[in-house]
Amino acid sequence: MSASSQCSYKYEQYKETADWLLTQTHIRPKVAIICGTGLGGLADLLDNKVEIPYKNIPRFPHSTVEGHAGQLVFGELKGKQCVCMQGRFHFYEGYNTATVTYPVRVFYLLGVEVLIVTNAAGGLKVDFKVGDIMMIKDHINFPGFAGQNPLCGQNDVRFGVRFPCMSDAYDKDLAQLTRQTAEEQNCASFLRQGVYCMLAGPTFETIAECKVLQMLGADAVGMSTVPEVIVARHCGLRVLGLSLITNKVVCDYDSQEHANHEEVLEIGHMRTIDFQRLVSHVVAKM
Ligand code: HPA
Repeated sequence: MSASSQCSYKYEQYKETADWLLTQTHIRPKVAIICGTGLGGLADLLDNKVEIPYKNIPRFPHSTVEGHAGQLVFGELKGKQCVCMQGRFHFYEGYNTATVTYPVRVFYLLGVEVLIVTNAAGGLKVDFKVGDIMMIKDHINFPGFAGQNPLCGQNDVRFGVRFPCMSDAYDKDLAQLTRQTAEEQNCASFLRQGVYCMLAGPTFETIAECKVLQMLGADAVGMSTVPEVIVARHCGLRVLGLSLITNKVVCDYDSQEHANHEEVLEIGHMRTIDFQRLVSHVVAKM
């Protein structure tokens, strides 16, 4: 059965996927990178690439949405062995949180120790600019408030404890390394830090919803990332989260602006080079 709709998976299923992947490549990644919307170009930077389409990977979820083919790319980024997800699974596509996070447990079983999650997000903080890169210092799991937490269900202690801590979800040392790298790579002027709030999507937020999120202390809003981070922390991966601010959310009833996917893609394209430079130099120093 393909992993596309199950509500939970067994250890043996993740293991079967991981063991199969290990037969397909000599790369033994310590770092996994989830490429967000418009940021898939990161995977193209890898040397000695081995590209494996999701549809060829046993038990791996695969996208049913056209244009979202998706593949794992194994290779070396500045000499460091990595695996990149080119295309992630979103809750709004109809996947449950167990399926959205399936790859993360596979990464853990491959021996990955650090997860870099990237995404496109709307800026809620007033002084954020389009094109800023926000290091995620904390998150708000809005779907979790409504019972959508990827760790709901039976806990398997081979992955982690029943009640994992989330107050240290984003690794402080990796954040410091990123800040230092941003200085060296001329990215400091657009590197920010803040709280990422996940909503289920696929609708962009109403004005009233944006005001609520701002009141709650969220600095950026998006439709991904949080489930993967929760599952990564559960199994002990260190996490670096980076949001590319692709638009400012609309908070004014007189505004003529409308959030749209084309703008998100355009800004992703505009910042691609800077984003890739920053991430690859951070990985090089790990
Ligand atoms: N809202 C939610 N998700 C997003 C946005 C936004 O404004 N921009 C990019 N992803």
